[in-house]
Amino acid sequence: MAMRKFSEKKLTGEVLSRIRKTKNARLKQVMTSFIKHLHAFVRETKPTQEEWFKGIEFLAETGQWCTGKRNEYILMSDTLGVSMLADALNYKAGAGATQSTVLGPFHRERAPAYPLGGNISKNAPDGEPCVVRGTVKDAKGRPVAGAKLDIWEGGADGLYDSQKGDEMNLRGVFRTDAQGRFHFRCVTPSSYPVPNDGPVGRMLVATGRHPMRPPHLHFWITAPGYKSLITHLFVKGGKYLDSDAVFGVKPELVVEFKKGKDGVASASYDFVLMQDGKRKK
Ligand code: BEZ
Ligand code: FE
Repeated sequence: MAMRKFSEKKLTGEVLSRIRKTKNARLKQVMTSFIKHLHAFVRETKPTQEEWFKGIEFLAETGQWCTGKRNEYILMSDTLGVSMLADALNYKAGAGATQSTVLGPFHRERAPAYPLGGNISKNAPDGEPCVVRGTVKDAKGRPVAGAKLDIWEGGADGLYDSQKGDEMNLRGVFRTDAQGRFHFRCVTPSSYPVPNDGPVGRMLVATGRHPMRPPHLHFWITAPGYKSLITHLFVKGGKYLDSDAVFGVKPELVVEFKKGKDGVASASYDFVLMQDGKRKK
């Protein structure tokens, strides 16, 4: 058979026709879209060979920075707003339900379980002491008893425990009581930079951006029969609320952390979970 003449115009169609036998329908759809958008990107930006190779090197280096403790691709997705976009498309908070936000790279499995009132800060210099209390309820205002609250935060030095070593600190798991209430002790969250010593950090500098996140406390709340909620509480008046490096701020999640006369700050929040539709309540 005669070989077809190369045509730049027909190339995209040829690549698409080459994947027409893909059995998995979802994979076919995703790959088709990916090829179309990638080709359109190259047509639009017209990279020189040198530029294209630089791009490939950047992606290779991003992979080389990934370890068991650090995923530079998640950071890229976060800082390009893709993580928040995927979250927005997947978690549609119904009327009155608490908004979700980005998970981030610092969640760890098997954080220590504490009784209500426990302190997730194991070291005095972690930061300013703080008490957080509130409830977990459903959209009809009914308490969710035994909901699991997985909580984590960085210290006043701007670092998470995993950035310093293997010891777990400033993270813990709590369960709501029969009335859906919880309270725990921690430190008032501080702003901190996302890890910026790698390729994503260079991308931020090159595009005129800062790496900072506003002060926040992470929550991952789960309960049988409810949609899992990954979210933060942001500190009202905190720095960088308007320019979070990962676009995670939603106004509904900004709360006051009020400093008491005893030097202990306090905040409260009532979380509302959505039923997951798999079980009638
Ligand atoms: C965080 O909040 O822990 C975080 C989220 C996204 C990227 C880096 C850090
Ligand atoms: Fe964080």
